[in-house]
Amino acid sequence: MIVAIDGPAASGKGTLARRLAQDLGLPHLDTGLLYRATARALLDHGQNLSNVTAAVAAARGLSLTDFDAMALRGREMGEAASIVAAVPEVRAALVDLQREFAKRPGGAVLDGRDIGTVICPEAQVKIFVTASPETRASRRALELKAQGEAVDYAEILEDIRRRDARDANRATAPLRTAEDAVVLDTTKLDIEAAYKAALGIVEKRLIEAGISSSRSLRPM
Ligand code: CDP
Repeated sequence: MIVAIDGPAASGKGTLARRLAQDLGLPHLDTGLLYRATARALLDHGQNLSNVTAAVAAARGLSLTDFDAMALRGREMGEAASIVAAVPEVRAALVDLQREFAKRPGGAVLDGRDIGTVICPEAQVKIFVTASPETRASRRALELKAQGEAVDYAEILEDIRRRDARDANRATAPLRTAEDAVVLDTTKLDIEAAYKAALGIVEKRLIEAGISSSRSLRPM
């Protein structure tokens, strides 16, 4: 079973995807890390983010085993990732890696921007996680603060709005809701409530598709 979780920055999709993967006994891929790692590799080699040849080489050189996820999560790398992610050649270079991950025996949970629309249109479960920009900015501010970054709420809100616009308006694989995705608005939900709602969506889809899970889906 493939579970596709898409949504804008700081919507909570990463946390939901991680927990769903754990409860379903499936591997999880945070595809944002691929774009973050591509941007990191370019900057580490003194290359410009707009250097398409270097960006494609960096994307092709990625291996899923060598991520330092914590080092990639900062604010600066989120912005840089969204710049390289708008380059069609970079996206194309990362398609096979993501599809191979999704096609593991038993399936996988992937989260990102275009999983349900481009990478795995065949996914049995598609959830589009969203929340108001203000709620997402508050969550991101808390997250960055916990990682020791200096935070300014107004700047983070501006980052989120800028990234939303860039992700939604790019020509290739823009952020949009797949026609068969269920929208989960977490603006008024805490993480437990959001997780329960996501589990409910998965269970309903499993029943509709006649798929049985090897795990109990009830939260522990
Ligand atoms: O956690 P957050 O949503 O802030 O960031 P992320 O998921 O790590 O993604 C960082 C950037 O990578 C996004 O703003 C997108 O531009 C890009 N991205 C993408 O284009 N497609 C994906 N499947 C995942 C991320």
